This record gives sequence, structure tokens and C-alpha cells, in this order.
Amino acid sequence: MEFFDFLGKDPRYGRHSLNRLNKRHRFLIEPYLADIDGSSVLDIGAYDGRWSYALSQAGAREVVAVEAREESMVRFESYPPGPAKDRVRFVKGDVQDVLPRMIADATRFDVVALFGFLYHVMDHYHLLQQIARLSPRLVIIDSEFTMSPRPVIRLVREKTDNDHNSIARVPGQTKAPVGIPSKLALTWMAASLGYGVEWADWESLKPRERRGLDGYFTQPPGWKRRETCALRSVEGSAQDPADQADAWRLSRPLRTRRTRRTPGGRAPRSPVEPGRAQGPTTRTTFRHVPGASDPPRPWPGRARCTAHGQRPARA
Ligand SMILES: C[S@@+](CC[C@H](N)C(=O)[O-])C[C@H]1O[C@@H](n2cnc3c(N)ncnc32)[C@H](O)[C@@H]1O
Repeated sequence: MEFFDFLGKDPRYGRHSLNRLNKRHRFLIEPYLADIDGSSVLDIGAYDGRWSYALSQAGAREVVAVEAREESMVRFESYPPGPAKDRVRFVKGDVQDVLPRMIADATRFDVVALFGFLYHVMDHYHLLQQIARLSPRLVIIDSEFTMSPRPVIRLVREKTDNDHNSIARVPGQTKAPVGIPSKLALTWMAASLGYGVEWADWESLKPRERRGLDGYFTQPPGWKRRETCALRSVEGSAQDPADQADAWRLSRPLRTRRTRRTPGGRAPRSPVEPGRAQGPTTRTTFRHVPGASDPPRPWPGRARCTAHGQRPARA
């Protein structure tokens, strides 16, 4: 029996989505059980509360679930009754309105979950700044990332009538512009706010276990891939983490694989393993966690942030 199997009775969840949710649970929740236990947790873009429920069941003292779409949040009512459900409280509203109210009330959270949300916004840095003002020691992010080794945010437009997408930002808007950051872009933004980044090692999943996890194993020519990471507060650092991120970045210029020119045309220059060739991070020593895979993903699976400010070892 895996965590989300209880949703099997809900006709909206088929076998495929339960399999996917259960595998994601292993990467989004299980590594952080010690952090979640007894904590106050904020779940941003909570949808029907499935991850809020998981966070509560994982031991959170309370979970505040922010969701803009009423029709999604009411589905939480059909979740199994019990203490885990009772510890979840929904706040309906646009996160852009809800977070300033929380900040004004001096609300604090120990842990913030941004699951499937960071690629549905245009104002990533503003959002992260607001989250930082809630003083979490841990922000868990599961998102799509642009597979560029550069610090970029790539814009796309998405339909606002899809209940998984951005809400309309202006009245009557049917397509909202949203930005998909690269890993380095997130690292820089996080570093400037005093957070280091640890990336989950999805490569540790055996190929046969990857079924149903579309998006997490995309290869070029695809340009975006799902990743999971944890932003940890690096208080008391001897050096500004943003400077460390810069120092690391400057010490490792972009490597590109040069392909042969084709007659009559300019050969494309594609980054080596876009998005994973450059292990950014802040204040960081990249260390393989036991069991973490070696290349083909040159970006070490789980990069730990340490206080030493050493340059990451080459992958
Ligand atoms: C892709 S879904 C992710 C849902 C959930 N976190 C999960 O992983 O299952 C994104 C959710 O964010 C909500 N959302 C989008 N923009 C929002 C906003 N500005 N404020 C609050 N919720 C928003 C959507 O309604 C949707 O439920």
C-alpha cells in the first residue's frame, strides 16, 4: 500500500496518476520527513489539497493550503476524515494577495511547499522574496525547469481555463504569460535571499521505475524538465551566498559542445547536457550522496549545500 492509494476510490484519479503521485511522494515528501515533523507548513497552489494532506500525514503540526480556484479546493472535502485532514486549513485566494496579508500579520512557517507552481508564475523573484519573509527554514520545490545552463527564465503562455494553470492575471485573460526558470536562475534568486539549493536525484530511480514519470527524464531536443529541490536557509554564513554563487559561476565558464558545421549552414552550438551540465549552487560543495548516480547526468544528483564555500567538484 503506497501513500496515495487511498485516492483510488476517487474516479478522478486513475491508476496512472496514482502511480505517478506515489513515486513523486518518495522524492517530494520522504526525504524531508524530519523537517516536516512538528512543523507549520504552507502549501502554495494546493489544488485539491493532495500534497497538503500528504504533508499533514507526514507529521506537520498544521498545513495552510493556498489555492485560488474554489472548484479545486472543495474536492478536499471528499478526503478521508481524521487528524491529518483536520490539520489542513485552506485559504482561498491569489497567492499575490494572500502572502502580503500573512507578512503583514507576521505569520511564520517552518516549511513551504511549491509543488507544480513555480512554472505557473511570472514573478518568481517577488514570490520567493515574499516566501523568504515568512522565514521558512526549508522550501521544497517541484517544478519544470528550462534545460539551459544559463541563468534564464523562458516565457510561455498557458491557457487559464485549465485548472492546473495560472489564473487569469487580467480580466478576461484566456492565455497568461508564465516563466519557466533554469536551475541556475533559481539558484541565483535563492542565494540572494539566503538560501542554498539541494537537488533531488531522480537519476537514482532505476529505468524500469521511471514509467509514468513523464517530464522528469526529458532529454534534448526537449527544452524543459521537471526537477525537485530544497531551498535551505543558510543563516550565519561567513560569506554572502549570492557572492558564492557568483564566484562559482565565474569560475566555470559555459562549456559547449561544438558540432561540425554543415555545408551552407551554421552549426548549432548546444550546451553539454543542457540544464544539468552546470551544477550551480551556492556555498556549495557538490557531494554525491551514497547511491547517487554518476553521469550521464553530469549535474550531481543531489547537491548538498555546505558552509565551506568550496568549489563544486567536477561531475
Ligand atoms: C499545477 S497545479 C499544482 C497543484 C498541486 N500543488 C499539486 O502539485 O498537485 C497549480 C495550482 O496552482 C493554482 N494557482 C495558480 N495560480 C495561482 C495563484 N496566483 N494563486 C493561488 N493559486 C494559484 C492552480 O489553481 C492550481 O491548482
